Amino acid sequence: MRVSQSQSHKAAGGGGGGGRRHRVIYLVLAAASFTLVVFAIQFSLFTGGSGGGDQFQKLDLEQQQHHVQILHHFHSNVQQCVANRGLGLTAHIIDHCNLLLKFPQGTNSTWYNEQFKIYEPLEYKYNVCETLLLWEQYRNMTTVLTREYLDVRPDGWEDYAAKRIAQLGADKCYNRTLCEEYFNLILPAKPPFHPRQFHKCAVVGNSGDLLKTEFGEEIDGHDAVIRDNEAPVNEKYAKYVGQKRDFRLVVRGAARNMITILNGSATEVLIIKSVIHRDFNAMIKKIPNPVYLFQGIVLRRGAKGTGMKSIELALSMCDIVDIYGFTVDPGYTEWTRYFSTPRKGHNPLQGRAYYQLLECLGVIRIHSPMRSKRKQDWSDVPTREMISRAHAAALHLKRGQDGDLGQFGSCKVWGNVGPKSNGPISGSPDMSSVRKFSNYSKWEVMPSESLRKEAQDHYSQMEGVSLYKMDGNKLDDLVCVRHSS
Ligand SMILES: *[C@@H]1O[C@H](CO)[C@@H](O)[C@H](O)[C@H]1NC(C)=O
Ligand SMILES: *[C@@H]1O[C@H](CO)[C@@H](O)[C@H](O)[C@H]1NC(C)=O
Ligand SMILES: *[C@@H]1O[C@H](CO)[C@@H](O)[C@H](O)[C@H]1NC(C)=O
Ligand SMILES: *[C@@H]1O[C@H](CO)[C@@H](O)[C@H](O)[C@H]1NC(C)=O
Ligand SMILES: *[C@@H]1O[C@H](CO)[C@@H](O)[C@H](O)[C@H]1NC(C)=O
Repeated sequence: MRVSQSQSHKAAGGGGGGGRRHRVIYLVLAAASFTLVVFAIQFSLFTGGSGGGDQFQKLDLEQQQHHVQILHHFHSNVQQCVANRGLGLTAHIIDHCNLLLKFPQGTNSTWYNEQFKIYEPLEYKYNVCETLLLWEQYRNMTTVLTREYLDVRPDGWEDYAAKRIAQLGADKCYNRTLCEEYFNLILPAKPPFHPRQFHKCAVVGNSGDLLKTEFGEEIDGHDAVIRDNEAPVNEKYAKYVGQKRDFRLVVRGAARNMITILNGSATEVLIIKSVIHRDFNAMIKKIPNPVYLFQGIVLRRGAKGTGMKSIELALSMCDIVDIYGFTVDPGYTEWTRYFSTPRKGHNPLQGRAYYQLLECLGVIRIHSPMRSKRKQDWSDVPTREMISRAHAAALHLKRGQDGDLGQFGSCKVWGNVGPKSNGPISGSPDMSSVRKFSNYSKWEVMPSESLRKEAQDHYSQMEGVSLYKMDGNKLDDLVCVRHSS
C-alpha cells in the first residue's frame, strides 16, 4: 500500500487561445490515499496571486471554487464506481481534473514492448475534465462525411476532400468537378444519422473473449448493432455475437473485401474510416448497402483503434452504448480475434484502464466474461444529472465566462443550408441495378418526423444545427451547419 502523499498542483485556467488569462489556482491536496472516498471535502484551495494581477472579481473566484467542488464530488463518485466495477483497478484523485488509475501491485504485465524493452506500466493518469468534455461532445456530433460539411468548411473541397480521395494522387482538389465525381457515390447532402436516433446500441469488438460468454441474444436485443472490420456474423458464431447487423466501421484494409464482408446483409451500413478509392467505388456500385465515409478521423496521425471510433459513432446516434468483445478482463492473455489467429500491437492494461474510466464517466457500459455473472446494475455509475453538472463545471473552468456560450460555444465555422437543398442524395449515374433498386439511400430520405421523439427534441433544441468536428479530437474546432426551413 502507498502511504499518503502531498502534492501541489497547478490547475484550472490555461485553455490557450481563448485570450482571457485565467487566474492560476494552486490546489494543495492533502492525503491522497486509497481509503479516501470522502476526499471531496478534504482539499484546501489557495489562490496564487502573482503574475497577471487580479482580473477576476471575487464572485468569479467563488464560482471557480464552486466548480472545483462539484468536480471533486464527481471524482469521489467515479472513484467509488471504479472500485466497484474495475475488477481490481483503483482510482486515485490527484486534483479536481486529474485521476490516476492503478492496477493492483503484482499485476502481471504480460505485454512486453520489444522496441522499448519495457512492460506496460501499472498506472495511468487521466485528465477527467478533458475526457468528459470530449466524450459528452460526441453525443451531439455528426460523424458521417456530408456535402454540407465540405461546402461550409473553408478548405473543405480543396484540401479536406483531397485527403479523403486516394485515387486523386494530388494534395488538392484542383478540379472540383472531378472530386465530386469520385465522391458522389458516398456523399449525402446532409447527415443521414442523427444524435439520439437510437436508444440502446451494442458495439461489438472482435476479441476472442466473446467465445467465453453467450451474449448473442443480448446483443441482438439492441436497437442498433455496430461491428468492426471483417467480424463474421453467421450461424456458427450467433450464440456469442448475435446476428443483427446495422452498422460496420471498416479501415481501408478491410474495405478491400467489402463485397465478401457485406454478403448476407443488404442493409448493413458500411462506414469507411479511411479514404475513398477507385476500387472501392467500383465495388460500391455493385452492392445494395449504404456506404459512407467516417468524419472525424485524425488524418496523418497514427489512427486510434477502430474500437474507439466505433464508440464515437455509437455515441453520435445512441443514448446508451453497450460494449462487447473489447478484452477488458484481468489476466486475459490470448490475443485472438473470435474468428481468427492472434494479432499484435495491443496494450491491454492501458485499454482496460481507459474503458473502465469511460464506463465510470457514463460513456459506455462494459460487458465481458468476468462481468456476465454479476447482476447488470448500473446504480454505482454517476447519473446523467451528475455528469451534466460535472461537464458544466469542467467547461467553466476551461473557458471562464465563455463557458456560458451554450451548445454552440465551440463552433468555429458557421454555414447555412437553405430549404431548397434537400438533395442530391448520394449516388452515381452508372450504378448496377442491384444498387439502383435497393434501399441504399433509406437513411438520407428519412423524414425527420419519423425519427424518435428524443432525436426530434434534440434537433429543435439545437435550432436545426448539425455539429461536426473540424479535425480529429480537438474540442473547440467545430463546423456548425444551420438548416433553415
Ligand atoms: C506473467 O505472464 C507470463 C505470460 O503469460 C508468464 O510467462 C509468467 O510466468 C507470468 N508471471 C507471473 C509472476 O505470474
Ligand atoms: C475536370 O474534371 C472533369 C471530370 O473528369 C473533366 O471533364 C474536365 O475536363 C476537367 N477540367 C479540367 C480543367 O481539367
Ligand atoms: C455469399 O454467401 C453465400 C452463402 O452464404 C455464398 O454461397 C456466396 O458464395 C457468398 N458470396 C460471396 C461473394 O462471398
Ligand atoms: C425498400 O424499402 C421498401 C419500403 O420499406 C420495401 O418495400 C422494399 O422491399 C425495399 N427494397 C429492397 C430492395 O430492399
Ligand atoms: C448537447 O445537446 C443538448 C441538447 O440536446 C444540450 O443541452 C447540451 O448542452 C449539448 N452538449 C454539448 C456538450 O454540447
